[in-house]
Formats: sequence, C-alpha cells, structure tokens
Amino acid sequence: MDHVIIKNVEKTFFNKEEKTSFTVFNDINLNIKKGEFLSLLGPSGCGKSTLLNIVAGLDKATNGVVQVGSKTITAPGPDRGVVFQEAALMPWLTVLENVMFGLKKKMSKGEAEKKALEYLKLVHLSKFIRSYPHELSGGMKQRVSIARALAMDPEILLMDEPFGALDEQTRSMLHKEVQFIWEQTGKTIIFVTHNIRESVILSDRIILMGTRPGGIIGEFPVNLARPRQPSSPEFVKLEEDIMKQLAGEIEKVMKEEMGDDYNSKKASLLYGSNRNMGEHI
Ligand SMILES: Nc1ncnc2c1ncn2[C@@H]1O[C@H](COP(=O)(O)OP(=O)(O)OP(=O)(O)O)[C@@H](O)[C@H]1O
Ligand SMILES: [Mg+2]
Repeated sequence: MDHVIIKNVEKTFFNKEEKTSFTVFNDINLNIKKGEFLSLLGPSGCGKSTLLNIVAGLDKATNGVVQVGSKTITAPGPDRGVVFQEAALMPWLTVLENVMFGLKKKMSKGEAEKKALEYLKLVHLSKFIRSYPHELSGGMKQRVSIARALAMDPEILLMDEPFGALDEQTRSMLHKEVQFIWEQTGKTIIFVTHNIRESVILSDRIILMGTRPGGIIGEFPVNLARPRQPSSPEFVKLEEDIMKQLAGEIEKVMKEEMGDDYNSKKASLLYGSNRNMGEHI
C-alpha cells in the first residue's frame, strides 16, 4: 500500500529583489510504501532537504502535490515526525523534559512521562534522563531527538542526514539502533543522506537525485538480507553501481562549475572506481 505519494512536485525559489528564480527540481514523482525504509541520496545542493521539507509540510511545493494516504499535505502534522542533522533540543530542559514536551499537549503529565521513559529506553538513554543537552555527546543528542520524534508516534519518520555530523563508530551504532526501531515499530522512514554506504546498510530502496536539472536520476532496490555486511560481494557491487551513476552526475556539476579548468582525468580519479574515496559524495 502506498503511504506517501509525491506527484509532479516542482520547487522554484524566487528572489523578489533581484527578480530571479531558481528551480531545484521540476517533476518529482515517487510513491513510498507503508513500512518502507527509503533513502534519498544525491550530491550537495540537489534538493534532498527541500523535498523532505515539502513532505514534512515545512516548505511548500511550487507545483504538484504530496499525499499521505488520501490526505494532501499542506502543513506539518502529527502523522510526520522530523529528525534534523543537528538535534534541535531545548537546552534549558532535561533529556526527559525534552521528550515529554510535545507529549504533554496530548496527554496527562504522568502519561507523558511514562511514554517518554519508554522511548528513552528504546534509544538506550535511561541513565541520562536527568541530564541537560550540553552534558551529552552528539550521538546521544541525536538519540534524544529520535526518541522525541518517535514518542509522538508519527506514521512517518523523516530524517535529514541525522548522523551526518557523527564519527564512524557512533554512526554505525546508531544504524543498528535505527534498524532495530524500524523493525519494532514498522514506521515508514524517508532518510536523507549523501553517504552511499549508509544508504545501502539501511534502506529497502535508494532514490538517486541529481542536479541541473534536479530530479530523480536513478532507483536502486536493496534486496540484501539484514543485517547487511558491507564486505559482502553483493554489497560492494551495489555500492559501486550507485557510485558509477553518481560519478557521472558529479562530473557534470564539476564541468559546469570549473569550465576550462575541468580535468576529467582528475575527476575520475577522485570520484571514479575507488570505493573508499567515493563513499562520501
Ligand atoms: N530558502 C531558499 N532560497 C533559495 N534557494 C534555496 C533555499 N533553500 C534551498 N535553496 C537552494 O535549493 C537547492 C537545494 O537545496 P537543499 O538544501 O534541498 O539541497 P540538499 O540536497 O539537501 O543539499 P545538502 O546535501 O548540502 O544538504 C540549493 O541550490 C539551495 O541553494
Ligand atoms: Mg540537505
């Protein structure tokens, strides 16, 4: 069953003072199934956050519609929870109070506390409920913001590079936690990243986005059993296939930006077949 339906979505930013406009993408069509883990992958500036913000209702499409089931999205709503790259926690509230904040509007204080504790346990932060955000590491703050979004019990979780600022070990631990939570809760997840390996580890399907003109340039289903092994030949092959397609896209952008200085040999060395160098795009 399709859960999120993105139909003919265009986003153009207008600069009224300079009387200019910039179209990020002009015709995005994408259906996401209930319970699907979908990644949006693409180079910086291709419009991943813009698309996610439109689905979140934080930004408006210039044309086209986004539906959750049969309902057209016009604003943020409790059916969609958002986790951003930087955990936007309230510094004057404890971990527990941060997670309880939205819940208190929906239920009694006692019930809110019970629910908040349940979700803090799910992200392994039961020992830190009385701590303040400044006392936590980056990964712990991100876990609080994941708990806060989950506690509101949205049908859909929208995550915009939630682990982008974290070190490899923390990132890898949070991958395991997110997979566990996803398996436990059956949420539909749309996950933005520019890390190819992360998208292959986590997703059911990867959507590649490109720039100029922006839009969907490829789609890769990930039919590998979980937990995924980055060293397995199937994993490596998929990672390389994705990288090949993205390398072409990055080359296009470099050519445009560098003009005569463009050196295709250099570009292919940097972004071509070397798996480790190209992991982050
Ligand atoms: N409010 C805005 N006004 C004008 N242009 C904008 C605005 N927000 C985004 N853009 C432009 O839209 C394009 C897409 O931006 P977006 O933030 O969606 O990219 P992204 O794929 O999320 O990039 P990154 O990986 O760096 O986060 C960029 O060229 C950006 O400059
Ligand atoms: Mg972004």
